[in-house]
Amino acid sequence: MTQSNPGISKAVIPAAGLGTRFLPATKATPKEMLPVVDKPAIQYVVEEAVSAGLSDVLMITGRNKRPLEDHFDRNYELEEALSRKGDAGRLARVQESSDLATMHYVRQGDPRGLGHAVLCAAPHVGDQPFAVLLGDDLIDPRDPLLARMVEVQARLGGSVIALMEVDPSQIHQYGCAAVKPTGEDDVVQITELVEKPDPAEAPSNLAIIGRYVLDPAIFGILRETEPGRGGEIQLTDAIQKLADAHGTGTPHGTGAPHHANADSAPSGPRDGGPVHGVIFKGRRYDTGDRGDYLRAIVRLACEREDLGPEFRAWLRSFVTEEM
Ligand code: UTP
Repeated sequence: MTQSNPGISKAVIPAAGLGTRFLPATKATPKEMLPVVDKPAIQYVVEEAVSAGLSDVLMITGRNKRPLEDHFDRNYELEEALSRKGDAGRLARVQESSDLATMHYVRQGDPRGLGHAVLCAAPHVGDQPFAVLLGDDLIDPRDPLLARMVEVQARLGGSVIALMEVDPSQIHQYGCAAVKPTGEDDVVQITELVEKPDPAEAPSNLAIIGRYVLDPAIFGILRETEPGRGGEIQLTDAIQKLADAHGTGTPHGTGAPHHANADSAPSGPRDGGPVHGVIFKGRRYDTGDRGDYLRAIVRLACEREDLGPEFRAWLRSFVTEEM
């Protein structure tokens, strides 16, 4: 069911990364366009934004990303051909993506990191809280996460990030959060964030996954955030500063990334409110990772009414005979 929040109407989808983990498939095709069953991964992400009540979508794109724009646009030639054939089913499938949301695009230029990609959204977003959905992070449509985050932000204000428990040996692949409990089981307060920590130094096994609801104060912070880990402007660093500015973070906590302006700005960044985390226990796939991409296809195909029964039967015999 579509939920509405008068405070949040805009979703930002960064999709300008290089997708190097998926080369050579992503040499000339954006990784977000790789099909998951029969829809490109990015369509699931836009559908998720829309079902959380956010139908104004700004996509941050870059080189080779033209197919993303074409996918959410009309294709009159194809529509005409399908109409002539009387293929109403496929015609509806083709029109679905162009009727989904009001789409806007901005190019990032050099992919200087996720924080830089989000900063490119500032002129479009203005002074309202907004959602960020990473274009290569697929949340199973049966496990709504963003709608819960939007609801938590409406009640608690500030910003809300999505967290997921991972095996401690995997935490070095993620941003990691130190947290304090709140009265709600799946909601925590963020005290410290560390980008891709060594497992021995990680403050928890709570990984940041690709959904955020952010206060616009993040833009002022991002403008002053120096490149961090990997030479990229890290969104995690800027969110840590949001928490610090509200007095709930641990500015000099162990392993916290250094920010060039941390000591030089006497009054600090504008208080954008607290930063909370919603702990997600559902199904999530990183479609930029080859193994997770395969798992996403198998799982979603198994659940499909049209393809599932035959595919499951085949999979069962494949596993029994071949493995
Ligand atoms: P990733 O860390 O997955 O980087 O970015 P990537 O370049 O896309 O992929 P690999 O690691 O080389 O395979 C996380 C998200 O942030 C976006 C990406 O498109 C992805 O959705 N991003 C990253 C940008 O939009 N711009 C950037 O400069 C970096």
